[in-house]
Amino acid sequence: MENEVQKKRILSGIQPSGDLTLGSYLGAIRNWAALADEYDCYYMMADMHTITVRQVPAELRRHTLVQLAAYIASGLDPEKNVLFVQSHVPAHAQLGWVLDCYTMFGELSRMTQFKDKSAKNADNINAGLFTYPALMAADILLYQADLVPVGGDQKQHVEICRDIATRFNGLYGDTFKLPDPYIPKVGARIMSLTTPTSKMSKSDKDQNGCVYMLEKPEDILRKFKKAMTDSDACVRFDPENKPGVSNLMQIYSVATGRDYAAIEAEFAGQGYGSFKTAVGESVVELLRPIREETERLLADKAYLESVYRAGAEKAAYVANRTLSKVYKKVGFLAR
Ligand code: TYM
Repeated sequence: MENEVQKKRILSGIQPSGDLTLGSYLGAIRNWAALADEYDCYYMMADMHTITVRQVPAELRRHTLVQLAAYIASGLDPEKNVLFVQSHVPAHAQLGWVLDCYTMFGELSRMTQFKDKSAKNADNINAGLFTYPALMAADILLYQADLVPVGGDQKQHVEICRDIATRFNGLYGDTFKLPDPYIPKVGARIMSLTTPTSKMSKSDKDQNGCVYMLEKPEDILRKFKKAMTDSDACVRFDPENKPGVSNLMQIYSVATGRDYAAIEAEFAGQGYGSFKTAVGESVVELLRPIREETERLLADKAYLESVYRAGAEKAAYVANRTLSKVYKKVGFLAR
């Protein structure tokens, strides 16, 4: 029991705003399963974040359940990890509001994700899209998380979370633990296959640039065969001058565990054709067991329900302790 209490804590989440991408898998989920023994881990479906962009309600429900199944299929054992749906734990919304009042307009204006998303959704730049980082800070701080395992694009949000926590702690005394981002060395920024200078993203208009975790093998192979490279015909890691080839090397490195020197040697003197096929096949094999297990789990809705119910209960217990502390500190009258 002593050990249980002393374990460091982890929280992370993904928005169920669409099908999970290879980027989310390599940048985030893939790294989570290995942490379960050493840390006390909380992983959520960040459904409240998704409505900052319009969602089709039935699709949001479906994506949330598929995401839970994919978490489990990727090795997150529900006995060892707390898996829950964000909206099932009201403390997220409650602390989110409090933190809104300790987050500055200026700092929110500097967030890259806000700038990107408001450019992509110019007809719906709502207040939630703007204050999103305060809700994300609440997600993390409620659990007093030590580490937040995410891809490189979320680093700025973990940094603002630390700033908000520091501000609050400065005003009211130690309340929140300051979390650190935990970003993988390889795989932190998977780029689009067709536009390798921009991030692989489910909101990308060009669907050939984005590979999905649960996509059919033949579609994955086709996308890799079409991937943008260059006219140099040399497999060499050089993200600045050869972004397409370097992105494929990054993916292949994570999928096979080989380093860049070994990959360069493996394809020396060969054209890009065999290289692209090899990368596609490595991804198909990496994802195959996860897809099959996800499909199996989705056929058992009762099991998935039992997982998210138990998860919400465990998460709420921890979250409510932090929320009570915060309510007291800011001066809310106890009920
Ligand atoms: P989201 O849903 O956009 O992405 C989920 C996770 O996948 C990582 N990721 C990538 N990594 C590498 N290459 C890519 N192309 C790529 N695309 C996505 C992201 O970095 C992220 O780790 N705000 C978060 C969700 C969230 C959250 C949280 C995360 C809400 N509350 C609390 C951590 C803690 C987001 O939009 O991630």
